[in-house]
Amino acid sequence: MARYCDSWLRSKPLRPTFSSNTTNSVAFRTSEVFGGTGNAAYTAALKVLDGDMDQYIHDNTEDEFTHFTFINAYLVDHGMQPANLEAFRTLPSSKASGAQQIGRLTNLMQLTVDTTWWTRYRSRTKNPDFGDTFVPAVPGLANGQFPAIPRDDNDLTPPAHIQAIANTAGFHFAMIEQGGSSLYPSLAQRVTDPEVLRILLSIGPTETMQFQTWQDKAGNAPPLTDPTNGLVFPDLNKPPFDGEDFQTNLIMPEPTIFLDRKFPVCSIIRPTETNGAATGAASFLTATGLFNGQSQPFFDALFTLADEADDAQPEGH
Ligand SMILES: [Fe+2]
Repeated sequence: MARYCDSWLRSKPLRPTFSSNTTNSVAFRTSEVFGGTGNAAYTAALKVLDGDMDQYIHDNTEDEFTHFTFINAYLVDHGMQPANLEAFRTLPSSKASGAQQIGRLTNLMQLTVDTTWWTRYRSRTKNPDFGDTFVPAVPGLANGQFPAIPRDDNDLTPPAHIQAIANTAGFHFAMIEQGGSSLYPSLAQRVTDPEVLRILLSIGPTETMQFQTWQDKAGNAPPLTDPTNGLVFPDLNKPPFDGEDFQTNLIMPEPTIFLDRKFPVCSIIRPTETNGAATGAASFLTATGLFNGQSQPFFDALFTLADEADDAQPEGH
């Protein structure tokens, strides 16, 4: 469970990381994904969002492992170096019961979750590629650092606290996958090789399938106030959050402006601007606290990869 962001990070096309650890491959073959046993109280809180939540998390994780494993194998097959951030797998795991004690690339315990994707995909008049901004669905998540997994067994109670942690994860899943939904089409615009374009066009939409699933489940997050820190999850179907911009059963994109306002509105992924897309993604994820505790060499490596991706130009340019 705690690895969900690690695997998303590792799946990105800008140059995904690759584990050559054969133990991983063995575990993959035998059980699809590998990890700790999970935490019963946390799993139960996640299932409040949907009874199939653990299955979806399992499948999303498996998807991401196959993405970075395939892309790195493809790179090797074409005489290129696979990406590898294994040296930076240094962050501590959750100390909660059931968590696997391994080094992590990401920190899921101090997140500042951006929930503006909720209103962005419900707007019929605005598009981030036009410079528009959006209000967050859960304003509290933008103001502070919150765990999306229990940090230790003290986080398992009271019930509203562990539910707030599960709710945070629910919104964070979708935040991550809407990013993937934008990143693949954004970077595909630089690709000249037809087969590489096929790879991006074949993987990218799976990110959107994940996003739509998580968006639907985030809408089921129960309204509550976390008694330990005051974090509020509002009822998105009640004032002042009600209305089309917040309605929880809107899980397909509303049509909006695209390319130029002279055109009719269109149901689209947004943003898809290609300039600076990789650096923007790296900066966004850094700002959410996902890499809190990482070293300067990690950020140097991350932004070098992003800069290289953003410098990639189609032939002839
Ligand atoms: Fe994904």
